[in-house]
Amino acid sequence: MNMHKIILLTAVCISLINFIQGGDNTEISIVPILGPFDLAEGPHWDENSNILYFVDIHQQKLYSWDSETNELTYTFIKYGPVSVAVPIDGKENSYVVGSGTNLVEIYWNRHFNDTDPDVEIIRTVDSTRLYNRFNDGKVDPKGRFWAGTMAEHGNEYPPNQASLYKFDSDAKRSTMISPVSISNGLVWNHANDTFYYIDSPQKKVFVFDYDNESGNISNQRTLFDFVKYNITGVPDGMTIDSTGNLWVADNLGNGKVLQIDPSSGELLRIVDMPVTHVSSLAFGGPNKDILYVTSAREGLEDEIKNQPYAGFVFAIYGLGVTGSPMLSYKLEDDIVFNK
Ligand SMILES: *[C@@H]1O[C@H](CO)[C@@H](O)[C@H](O)[C@H]1NC(C)=O
Ligand SMILES: *[C@@H]1O[C@H](CO)[C@@H](O)[C@H](O)[C@H]1NC(C)=O
Ligand SMILES: *[C@@H]1O[C@H](CO)[C@@H](O)[C@H](O)[C@H]1NC(C)=O
Ligand SMILES: *[C@@H]1O[C@H](CO)[C@@H](O)[C@H](O)[C@H]1NC(C)=O
Ligand SMILES: *[C@@H]1O[C@H](CO)[C@@H](O)[C@H](O)[C@H]1NC(C)=O
Repeated sequence: MNMHKIILLTAVCISLINFIQGGDNTEISIVPILGPFDLAEGPHWDENSNILYFVDIHQQKLYSWDSETNELTYTFIKYGPVSVAVPIDGKENSYVVGSGTNLVEIYWNRHFNDTDPDVEIIRTVDSTRLYNRFNDGKVDPKGRFWAGTMAEHGNEYPPNQASLYKFDSDAKRSTMISPVSISNGLVWNHANDTFYYIDSPQKKVFVFDYDNESGNISNQRTLFDFVKYNITGVPDGMTIDSTGNLWVADNLGNGKVLQIDPSSGELLRIVDMPVTHVSSLAFGGPNKDILYVTSAREGLEDEIKNQPYAGFVFAIYGLGVTGSPMLSYKLEDDIVFNK
Protein backbone atom coordinates (compact mmCIF):
# COMPACT_ATOMS: atom_id res chain seq x y z
CA MET A 1 0.00 0.00 0.00
CA ASN A 2 1.43 3.40 -0.82
CA MET A 3 1.56 6.30 1.60
CA HIS A 4 -1.25 8.12 -0.14
CA LYS A 5 -3.63 5.25 0.49
CA ILE A 6 -2.44 4.93 4.05
CA ILE A 7 -3.11 8.58 4.75
CA LEU A 8 -6.57 8.30 3.20
CA LEU A 9 -7.27 5.18 5.19
CA THR A 10 -6.10 6.91 8.33
CA ALA A 11 -8.51 9.77 7.77
CA VAL A 12 -11.39 7.35 7.31
CA CYS A 13 -10.42 5.40 10.38
CA ILE A 14 -10.24 8.37 12.69
CA SER A 15 -13.97 8.67 12.30
CA LEU A 16 -14.66 4.93 12.19
CA ILE A 17 -12.54 3.57 14.96
CA ASN A 18 -13.23 5.00 18.33
CA PHE A 19 -13.42 2.18 20.81
CA ILE A 20 -15.09 3.49 23.88
CA GLN A 21 -14.86 1.61 27.13
CA GLY A 22 -16.12 4.10 29.68
CA GLY A 23 -14.15 5.53 32.57
CA ASP A 24 -10.68 6.59 31.60
CA ASN A 25 -11.11 5.43 28.02
CA THR A 26 -13.94 7.72 26.94
CA GLU A 27 -11.65 10.13 25.12
CA ILE A 28 -9.34 7.68 23.41
CA SER A 29 -9.13 6.98 19.71
CA ILE A 30 -7.27 4.11 18.10
CA VAL A 31 -6.00 4.83 14.61
CA PRO A 32 -4.25 2.37 12.28
CA ILE A 33 -1.46 4.55 10.88
CA LEU A 34 0.83 2.19 8.93
CA GLY A 35 0.53 -1.23 7.40
CA PRO A 36 -0.24 -3.95 7.04
CA PHE A 37 2.95 -5.77 8.01
CA ASP A 38 3.34 -9.52 8.62
CA LEU A 39 4.67 -9.32 12.16
CA ALA A 40 5.32 -5.77 13.29
CA GLU A 41 7.21 -5.68 16.61
CA GLY A 42 9.79 -3.86 18.68
CA PRO A 43 8.56 -0.23 18.48
CA HIS A 44 11.23 2.21 19.62
CA TRP A 45 10.63 5.96 19.84
CA ASP A 46 13.79 7.98 19.33
CA GLU A 47 13.15 11.34 20.94
CA ASN A 48 16.24 12.95 19.43
CA SER A 49 14.88 12.58 15.92
CA ASN A 50 11.13 12.06 16.57
CA ILE A 51 11.36 8.79 14.67
CA LEU A 52 9.41 5.62 15.38
CA TYR A 53 11.43 2.51 14.60
CA PHE A 54 9.87 -0.94 14.43
CA VAL A 55 10.61 -4.27 12.76
CA ASP A 56 8.76 -6.76 10.57
CA ILE A 57 10.34 -9.90 11.97
CA HIS A 58 10.20 -12.56 9.28
CA GLN A 59 10.50 -10.03 6.46
CA GLN A 60 13.85 -9.20 8.12
CA LYS A 61 13.14 -5.49 7.90
CA LEU A 62 13.77 -2.55 10.16
CA TYR A 63 11.41 0.38 9.48
CA SER A 64 11.81 4.05 10.23
CA TRP A 65 8.77 6.33 10.30
CA ASP A 66 9.11 10.08 10.57
CA SER A 67 5.97 11.27 12.29
CA GLU A 68 6.39 14.83 10.97
CA THR A 69 7.01 14.12 7.29
CA ASN A 70 5.28 10.72 7.19
CA GLU A 71 8.41 9.32 5.50
CA LEU A 72 8.48 5.52 5.82
CA THR A 73 11.65 3.66 4.89
CA TYR A 74 13.15 0.27 5.62
CA THR A 75 16.32 -1.70 5.51
CA PHE A 76 16.73 -5.46 5.08
CA ILE A 77 19.16 -7.42 7.25
CA LYS A 78 20.43 -10.65 5.83
CA TYR A 79 21.31 -12.61 8.99
CA GLY A 80 17.81 -13.91 9.76
CA PRO A 81 14.57 -12.71 11.41
CA VAL A 82 14.89 -9.11 12.63
CA SER A 83 13.30 -8.83 16.07
CA VAL A 84 14.72 -5.71 17.67
CA ALA A 85 16.71 -2.62 16.71
CA VAL A 86 17.81 0.46 18.61
CA PRO A 87 20.09 3.36 17.66
CA ILE A 88 23.69 3.34 18.88
CA ASP A 89 24.28 6.32 21.14
CA GLY A 90 26.21 9.19 19.57
CA LYS A 91 26.85 7.39 16.29
CA GLU A 92 24.91 8.58 13.29
CA ASN A 93 23.17 6.00 11.07
CA SER A 94 24.23 3.14 13.34
CA TYR A 95 21.93 0.65 14.98
CA VAL A 96 22.28 -2.50 17.02
CA VAL A 97 19.96 -5.18 15.66
CA GLY A 98 18.98 -8.72 16.65
CA SER A 99 18.96 -10.75 13.42
CA GLY A 100 18.67 -14.51 13.69
CA THR A 101 21.04 -15.47 16.51
CA ASN A 102 23.32 -12.57 15.66
CA LEU A 103 23.66 -9.27 17.38
CA VAL A 104 24.79 -6.98 14.57
CA GLU A 105 25.66 -3.36 13.97
CA ILE A 106 24.23 -1.88 10.81
CA TYR A 107 25.00 1.37 9.02
CA TRP A 108 21.88 2.77 7.39
CA ASN A 109 20.84 6.18 6.15
CA ARG A 110 17.16 6.05 7.00
CA HIS A 111 16.19 8.42 4.19
CA PHE A 112 16.70 5.56 1.76
CA ASN A 113 15.34 2.05 1.44
CA ASP A 114 18.42 -0.13 1.58
CA THR A 115 18.24 -3.88 1.00
CA ASP A 116 21.97 -4.36 1.51
CA PRO A 117 23.27 -2.13 4.29
CA ASP A 118 26.77 -2.59 5.75
CA VAL A 119 26.43 -5.11 8.58
CA GLU A 120 28.96 -6.31 11.13
CA ILE A 121 28.32 -9.18 13.50
CA ILE A 122 28.99 -8.11 17.09
CA ARG A 123 28.17 -11.38 18.85
CA THR A 124 26.45 -14.67 18.06
CA VAL A 125 24.35 -16.43 20.71
CA ASP A 126 22.65 -19.82 21.07
CA SER A 127 24.78 -21.28 18.27
CA THR A 128 23.98 -24.85 19.33
CA ARG A 129 20.22 -24.16 19.24
CA LEU A 130 19.04 -24.85 15.73
CA TYR A 131 15.68 -23.06 15.96
CA ASN A 132 16.63 -20.09 18.08
CA ARG A 133 16.52 -16.45 17.14
CA PHE A 134 16.65 -13.14 18.96
CA ASN A 135 13.37 -11.70 20.20
CA ASP A 136 12.64 -8.45 22.07
CA GLY A 137 15.37 -6.20 23.47
CA LYS A 138 15.80 -2.86 25.28
CA VAL A 139 18.48 -0.55 26.64
CA ASP A 140 18.85 -0.34 30.45
CA PRO A 141 19.31 2.90 32.47
CA LYS A 142 23.10 2.69 32.13
CA GLY A 143 23.00 2.23 28.36
CA ARG A 144 23.61 -1.54 28.24
CA PHE A 145 21.64 -3.53 25.68
CA TRP A 146 19.50 -6.45 26.87
CA ALA A 147 17.94 -8.92 24.45
CA GLY A 148 16.55 -12.39 24.81
CA THR A 149 15.96 -15.27 22.45
CA MET A 150 13.26 -17.81 21.64
CA ALA A 151 12.97 -21.07 19.71
CA GLU A 152 10.71 -21.02 16.67
CA HIS A 153 10.19 -24.06 14.46
CA GLY A 154 7.42 -23.30 11.95
CA ASN A 155 4.36 -22.72 14.12
CA GLU A 156 5.91 -24.42 17.12
CA TYR A 157 7.83 -22.83 19.95
CA PRO A 158 9.88 -25.49 21.75
CA PRO A 159 10.01 -24.37 25.42
CA ASN A 160 13.04 -23.63 27.62
CA GLN A 161 15.55 -23.36 24.78
CA ALA A 162 16.30 -19.67 25.14
CA SER A 163 17.94 -17.09 27.40
CA LEU A 164 17.99 -13.42 28.28
CA TYR A 165 21.35 -11.72 27.66
CA LYS A 166 22.92 -8.42 28.63
CA PHE A 167 25.55 -6.74 26.44
CA ASP A 168 27.82 -4.21 28.14
CA SER A 169 29.34 -1.15 26.49
CA ASP A 170 32.20 -3.35 25.23
CA ALA A 171 29.59 -5.87 23.98
CA LYS A 172 30.67 -8.37 26.65
CA ARG A 173 27.78 -10.79 27.05
CA SER A 174 26.26 -12.01 30.32
CA THR A 175 23.46 -14.54 30.62
CA MET A 176 20.83 -13.01 32.90
CA ILE A 177 18.02 -15.60 32.87
CA SER A 178 18.16 -19.14 31.51
CA PRO A 179 16.29 -21.11 30.42
CA VAL A 180 13.36 -19.07 29.13
CA SER A 181 10.89 -19.87 26.36
CA ILE A 182 9.90 -16.62 24.62
CA SER A 183 11.84 -13.67 26.02
CA ASN A 184 9.78 -10.46 26.05
CA GLY A 185 8.87 -7.33 27.98
CA LEU A 186 11.99 -5.67 29.42
CA VAL A 187 11.32 -2.48 31.37
CA TRP A 188 13.22 -0.71 34.18
CA ASN A 189 11.47 1.49 36.72
CA HIS A 190 12.28 5.19 37.19
CA ALA A 191 14.26 4.64 40.40
CA ASN A 192 16.52 2.30 38.39
CA ASP A 193 16.28 -0.41 41.05
CA THR A 194 13.66 -2.73 39.52
CA PHE A 195 13.42 -4.76 36.31
CA TYR A 196 10.16 -6.06 34.78
CA TYR A 197 10.26 -9.07 32.47
CA ILE A 198 7.99 -11.38 30.51
CA ASP A 199 8.48 -14.97 29.38
CA SER A 200 5.31 -15.11 27.27
CA PRO A 201 4.16 -18.75 27.68
CA GLN A 202 4.28 -18.38 31.48
CA LYS A 203 1.48 -15.77 31.15
CA LYS A 204 3.01 -13.65 33.88
CA VAL A 205 4.80 -10.36 34.28
CA PHE A 206 7.81 -10.89 36.56
CA VAL A 207 9.65 -8.37 38.70
CA PHE A 208 13.32 -8.48 39.83
CA ASP A 209 15.54 -6.30 41.98
CA TYR A 210 18.01 -4.56 39.68
CA ASP A 211 21.45 -3.23 40.53
CA ASN A 212 22.15 -0.21 38.35
CA GLU A 213 25.93 -0.38 38.72
CA SER A 214 26.54 -4.05 37.94
CA GLY A 215 23.34 -4.66 35.99
CA ASN A 216 22.67 -7.72 38.13
CA ILE A 217 19.10 -8.88 38.73
CA SER A 218 17.86 -10.97 41.66
CA ASN A 219 14.84 -11.94 43.75
CA GLN A 220 12.36 -12.87 40.99
CA ARG A 221 8.66 -12.48 41.91
CA THR A 222 5.38 -12.58 39.99
CA LEU A 223 3.89 -9.14 39.54
CA PHE A 224 0.85 -9.92 37.42
CA ASP A 225 -0.72 -13.21 36.40
CA PHE A 226 -2.88 -13.24 33.23
CA VAL A 227 -4.68 -16.40 34.35
CA LYS A 228 -5.74 -14.90 37.69
CA TYR A 229 -7.35 -11.99 35.84
CA ASN A 230 -9.01 -14.29 33.29
CA ILE A 231 -7.06 -12.67 30.47
CA THR A 232 -7.09 -15.15 27.62
CA GLY A 233 -3.95 -14.20 25.70
CA VAL A 234 -0.25 -14.06 26.56
CA PRO A 235 1.82 -11.05 27.60
CA ASP A 236 4.13 -9.83 24.82
CA GLY A 237 5.76 -6.36 24.58
CA MET A 238 5.77 -3.97 27.54
CA THR A 239 6.52 -0.32 28.27
CA ILE A 240 6.32 2.13 31.18
CA ASP A 241 4.62 5.51 31.51
CA SER A 242 5.97 8.56 33.32
CA THR A 243 4.03 7.72 36.50
CA GLY A 244 5.66 4.29 36.61
CA ASN A 245 2.67 2.21 35.48
CA LEU A 246 3.28 -0.64 33.05
CA TRP A 247 1.56 -1.11 29.69
CA VAL A 248 1.46 -4.67 28.37
CA ALA A 249 0.40 -6.05 24.98
CA ASP A 250 -2.04 -8.96 25.37
CA ASN A 251 -1.32 -11.12 22.32
CA LEU A 252 -3.24 -14.12 20.90
CA GLY A 253 -6.31 -13.55 23.09
CA ASN A 254 -9.01 -10.96 22.52
CA GLY A 255 -6.46 -8.28 21.61
CA LYS A 256 -5.95 -5.86 24.43
CA VAL A 257 -3.56 -3.40 25.91
CA LEU A 258 -3.36 -3.56 29.71
CA GLN A 259 -2.26 -0.89 32.16
CA ILE A 260 -0.87 -2.35 35.40
CA ASP A 261 0.14 -0.63 38.62
CA PRO A 262 3.43 -2.32 39.61
CA SER A 263 3.23 -1.15 43.23
CA SER A 264 0.02 -3.11 43.86
CA GLY A 265 0.03 -5.49 40.90
CA GLU A 266 -3.49 -4.28 40.08
CA LEU A 267 -5.00 -4.03 36.63
CA LEU A 268 -5.85 -0.36 36.14
CA ARG A 269 -7.22 -0.26 32.63
CA ILE A 270 -7.98 -2.42 29.61
CA VAL A 271 -7.95 -0.94 26.11
CA ASP A 272 -9.66 -3.12 23.50
CA MET A 273 -7.80 -3.25 20.21
CA PRO A 274 -9.46 -3.93 16.82
CA VAL A 275 -7.05 -6.86 16.25
CA THR A 276 -6.23 -9.98 18.27
CA HIS A 277 -2.49 -10.28 17.62
CA VAL A 278 -1.21 -7.26 19.54
CA SER A 279 2.56 -7.62 19.72
CA SER A 280 4.17 -4.62 21.40
CA LEU A 281 3.91 -0.95 22.29
CA ALA A 282 5.88 2.23 22.97
CA PHE A 283 5.01 5.81 23.83
CA GLY A 284 6.00 8.40 21.27
CA GLY A 285 5.16 11.68 19.63
CA PRO A 286 6.82 15.01 20.44
CA ASN A 287 5.10 14.98 23.86
CA LYS A 288 5.34 11.19 24.24
CA ASP A 289 1.59 11.10 24.77
CA ILE A 290 0.76 8.75 21.86
CA LEU A 291 0.91 5.01 22.49
CA TYR A 292 2.14 3.24 19.34
CA VAL A 293 1.02 -0.38 19.20
CA THR A 294 2.30 -3.00 16.75
CA SER A 295 0.35 -6.05 15.58
CA ALA A 296 0.59 -9.13 13.37
CA ARG A 297 -1.18 -10.40 10.27
CA GLU A 298 0.76 -13.68 10.17
CA GLY A 299 -1.46 -16.60 11.08
CA LEU A 300 -4.63 -14.54 10.54
CA GLU A 301 -4.95 -15.08 6.79
CA ASP A 302 -8.46 -16.56 7.21
CA GLU A 303 -9.48 -13.80 9.58
CA ILE A 304 -8.73 -10.74 7.49
CA LYS A 305 -12.39 -10.12 6.78
CA ASN A 306 -13.03 -9.79 10.52
CA GLN A 307 -9.74 -8.09 11.25
CA PRO A 308 -8.93 -5.84 8.31
CA TYR A 309 -6.32 -3.96 10.34
CA ALA A 310 -4.38 -7.02 11.46
CA GLY A 311 -0.68 -6.23 11.02
CA PHE A 312 -1.07 -2.47 11.28
CA VAL A 313 0.82 -0.14 13.56
CA PHE A 314 -1.75 1.81 15.60
CA ALA A 315 -1.58 5.14 17.36
CA ILE A 316 -3.68 5.47 20.51
CA TYR A 317 -4.52 9.07 21.34
CA GLY A 318 -6.12 10.50 24.46
CA LEU A 319 -4.90 8.05 27.11
CA GLY A 320 -4.01 10.98 29.35
CA VAL A 321 -0.56 9.63 30.15
CA THR A 322 2.93 10.16 28.75
CA GLY A 323 5.85 7.79 28.30
CA SER A 324 9.42 8.06 29.47
CA PRO A 325 12.49 8.27 27.20
CA MET A 326 13.74 5.16 25.44
CA LEU A 327 17.52 5.02 25.48
CA SER A 328 20.12 4.24 22.83
CA TYR A 329 22.86 1.61 23.23
CA LYS A 330 26.13 3.00 24.59
CA LEU A 331 28.59 0.92 22.58
CA GLU A 332 32.31 1.71 22.74
CA ASP A 333 33.93 2.64 19.46
CA ASP A 334 37.01 0.47 19.50
CA ILE A 335 35.69 -2.94 20.50
CA VAL A 336 36.75 -6.05 18.64
CA PHE A 337 33.77 -7.83 17.20
CA ASN A 338 33.92 -11.62 17.14
CA LYS A 339 32.33 -13.58 14.38
C1 LIG B 1 10.55 2.86 0.79
O1 LIG B 1 9.72 1.78 1.13
C2 LIG B 1 8.49 2.20 1.66
C3 LIG B 1 7.79 1.00 2.25
O2 LIG B 1 7.74 -0.07 1.35
C4 LIG B 1 7.70 2.91 0.57
O3 LIG B 1 6.46 3.33 1.08
C5 LIG B 1 8.51 4.12 0.14
O4 LIG B 1 7.88 4.76 -0.92
C6 LIG B 1 9.92 3.75 -0.26
N1 LIG B 1 10.70 4.96 -0.36
C7 LIG B 1 11.60 5.16 -1.29
C8 LIG B 1 12.36 6.45 -1.19
O5 LIG B 1 11.80 4.36 -2.17
C1 LIG C 1 17.65 6.40 36.03
O1 LIG C 1 18.38 6.30 34.83
C2 LIG C 1 18.02 7.25 33.87
C3 LIG C 1 18.75 6.93 32.59
O2 LIG C 1 20.11 6.85 32.79
C4 LIG C 1 18.37 8.64 34.42
O3 LIG C 1 17.99 9.62 33.48
C5 LIG C 1 17.61 8.86 35.71
O4 LIG C 1 18.00 10.09 36.27
C6 LIG C 1 17.91 7.75 36.68
N1 LIG C 1 17.04 7.89 37.84
C7 LIG C 1 17.51 8.05 39.06
C8 LIG C 1 16.49 8.13 40.14
O5 LIG C 1 18.70 8.15 39.30
C1 LIG D 1 22.00 4.55 36.99
O1 LIG D 1 23.03 4.77 36.06
C2 LIG D 1 22.82 5.90 35.23
C3 LIG D 1 23.94 5.95 34.24
O2 LIG D 1 25.18 5.90 34.88
C4 LIG D 1 22.79 7.17 36.07
O3 LIG D 1 22.48 8.26 35.24
C5 LIG D 1 21.70 7.02 37.11
O4 LIG D 1 21.73 8.13 37.98
C6 LIG D 1 21.89 5.75 37.91
N1 LIG D 1 20.74 5.62 38.76
C7 LIG D 1 20.81 5.29 40.01
C8 LIG D 1 19.55 5.20 40.80
O5 LIG D 1 21.88 5.07 40.54
C1 LIG E 1 26.95 -9.42 39.66
O1 LIG E 1 26.95 -10.74 39.17
C2 LIG E 1 28.23 -11.22 38.83
C3 LIG E 1 28.06 -12.57 38.17
O2 LIG E 1 27.20 -13.38 38.92
C4 LIG E 1 29.09 -11.30 40.11
O3 LIG E 1 30.38 -11.73 39.78
C5 LIG E 1 29.14 -9.92 40.73
O4 LIG E 1 29.81 -9.99 41.98
C6 LIG E 1 27.75 -9.36 40.95
N1 LIG E 1 27.85 -7.97 41.39
C7 LIG E 1 27.09 -7.48 42.36
C8 LIG E 1 27.31 -6.03 42.70
O5 LIG E 1 26.23 -8.13 42.93
C1 LIG F 1 -12.23 -15.08 36.78
O1 LIG F 1 -13.29 -15.94 36.42
C2 LIG F 1 -13.79 -16.70 37.52
C3 LIG F 1 -14.76 -17.71 36.98
O2 LIG F 1 -15.63 -17.13 36.06
C4 LIG F 1 -14.41 -15.75 38.55
O3 LIG F 1 -14.87 -16.47 39.67
C5 LIG F 1 -13.34 -14.75 39.01
O4 LIG F 1 -13.91 -13.79 39.86
C6 LIG F 1 -12.70 -14.05 37.83
N1 LIG F 1 -11.57 -13.26 38.30
C7 LIG F 1 -11.38 -12.00 37.95
C8 LIG F 1 -10.18 -11.31 38.55
O5 LIG F 1 -12.12 -11.39 37.19
